[in-house]
Amino acid sequence: MELIDGKQISADIKAEIAQEVANRKEKGLKTPHLAAILVGHDGGSETYVAHKVKACEQVGFESTLVRFEDDITEIQLLEQVEALNNNNDIDGFIVQLPLPRHIDEQKVIEAIRPDKDVDGFHPVNVGKMVIGLDAFISATPAGIVDLLERYKISTSGKNVVVLGRSNIVGRPMSVLLSQKGQDATVTVCHSRTKNLKEITKQADIIIAAIGIPEFVTADMVKNGAVIIDVGTTRVESNQTKSGWKLKGDVNFDEVAPLCSHITPVPGGVGPMTIVSLLKNTLKATRLRD
Ligand code: GUN
Repeated sequence: MELIDGKQISADIKAEIAQEVANRKEKGLKTPHLAAILVGHDGGSETYVAHKVKACEQVGFESTLVRFEDDITEIQLLEQVEALNNNNDIDGFIVQLPLPRHIDEQKVIEAIRPDKDVDGFHPVNVGKMVIGLDAFISATPAGIVDLLERYKISTSGKNVVVLGRSNIVGRPMSVLLSQKGQDATVTVCHSRTKNLKEITKQADIIIAAIGIPEFVTADMVKNGAVIIDVGTTRVESNQTKSGWKLKGDVNFDEVAPLCSHITPVPGGVGPMTIVSLLKNTLKATRLRD
């Protein structure tokens, strides 16, 4: 069994991005500038956004964090999105999800200019991705494709089972891996799937993105499979200072001995997601050169 080291790969890619940023600065080209809108004080969102801002610093990007209390109205938030759309210094931006219940998330996503939508959530980017046109691709699926490529794990002709059909991970993941170039045979499973174990047992690669800690157990996995664990549920822990730790969707101790490759949680997919966001921001900046 080989551990897929997302921390190491993400550090390698960050170094490549930092080099390109340094080259751009030398040539007098614009420094990439990412902005993030954060509404409220959700613990997970605070952590993710802080990681994104720190990653910007590490590669030499500029970053701007725009914070609002969770009583901001939908209209006020849409005005802020419009301000970033029109701000020439901002190359790309994200609105951290989830948003408070009184705000229509889809409406906010659709207000973002597609050429600044570095999360790849706008329907224009999703639609372009589905038909294989150049687009901003959602960060987690893009990061997983990078991880597989860097570990030389071919997806061509492989049976890939994606667990979960979210707009952020499962759905775009399934589309990307079935495309020409990736050439996998993809099955998407979800809460209504019947005989799940029989399906996952056929998988050469399992991508678990359902958000249920330790859902994937040894009896669901064929010998020699590749396991990609997207789960990041916070569970209480008396072993950490914060009082919680991250748990993946895979029962790691049980499954790891069976498989050829597996991503740990933390340190697997998570760091790659942030790197994909940086790559998308660099791409947005290049498009504006
Ligand atoms: N919430 C959970 N994941 C993400 C992400 O990739 N982008 C944004 N904007 N919000 C999220």
